[in-house]
Amino acid sequence: MSLSPLHQTGITAEQSSEALFITFNVKPGQHKQIRLALKRSPEVISNTQSVFKSANLHAVIGIGNEYWSQLSLETPKQLTGFQHTDLKQAPDTPVDLILHIRSDRRDITSILAQKLYQLFSDSVSLVEEVSCFKYLDSRDLTGFVDGTENPEGEHRKEVALVGNEDPSFCGGSYLHLQKFIHSLHSWEQLPVDQQESIFGRSKTDNIEFSSDKKSPHAHTKRTSLKNAQGESLEILRQSMPFATLTESGLMFASYCRTPDNFNKMLNSMLKGDTEGHTDHLMKYTQAVTGQAFFVPSLLWFTQL
Ligand code: HEM
Repeated sequence: MSLSPLHQTGITAEQSSEALFITFNVKPGQHKQIRLALKRSPEVISNTQSVFKSANLHAVIGIGNEYWSQLSLETPKQLTGFQHTDLKQAPDTPVDLILHIRSDRRDITSILAQKLYQLFSDSVSLVEEVSCFKYLDSRDLTGFVDGTENPEGEHRKEVALVGNEDPSFCGGSYLHLQKFIHSLHSWEQLPVDQQESIFGRSKTDNIEFSSDKKSPHAHTKRTSLKNAQGESLEILRQSMPFATLTESGLMFASYCRTPDNFNKMLNSMLKGDTEGHTDHLMKYTQAVTGQAFFVPSLLWFTQL
């Protein structure tokens, strides 16, 4: 699959040292202006990337599932809303647009965010801006390395990008975003062996427990799923921690060529397996947002 010239590079880029997740709603009657701003955005992104070549700067612009139909007559085949598995544990909080900007330099991320905001600002209202950072050696704030089992190399594209199954939207990606606020005080009261059992991995050296030693409630057990043919269901996670003095947690971001994999994993975490084994990580964190977006290819923007 040779999709690289077409896809937004922020979908598959390797980890950066920091990121901004910015969500907007479109003001009434502003669709024409939004189309124009969207059309201009890829050039603003690529110009900024070429000025700051060494900053590892990448961006993604995604369109919320509900707003999509107002922008385009043709809809990605599998685009639906954030699933309603459990509204208490996984609230559904739709928004119209997302900017996911990341780089290895806070100043450069901010420069691009400002430039893109200038394009959109008169037509949108800001919903939320969350500033994230790489914590230690890519750990979540619970202290566990996050992203180890992510797909690698060219396989990232196979997992994250829509292919010929939906030719009009080839090179696009389904993005799911959840803001999780951690109860770090309770988590830190837990002995390390219990924390490790909850993840199914060791804490300091990040070794996976063998299958027979994993609790059915372990996060990695609940999210390692296979299809009927025995193939692993995969997503590309681009999650990152955030922290203020009063609120800290993880911006969980999943990119995939189908929304099914994320939906099945979330279901397996919250509803559990046939015997009702749920993900015990969820006792120590609470999702406060849940959004589904489609991230179109660069070609789509030129056709606006
Ligand atoms: C694995 C953290 C939510 C899907 C992991 C790992 C950590 C982690 C530390 C183990 C290392 C790794 O392979 O990355 C978290 C935290 C979450 C969260 C702190 C929320 C607070 C989610 C959600 C999903 C998900 C909502 C999908 C619906 C996965 C998958 C793996 C994984 C697919 C790899 C499992 C494997 O193959 O071993 N997560 N995660 N995670 N997580 Fe999460």
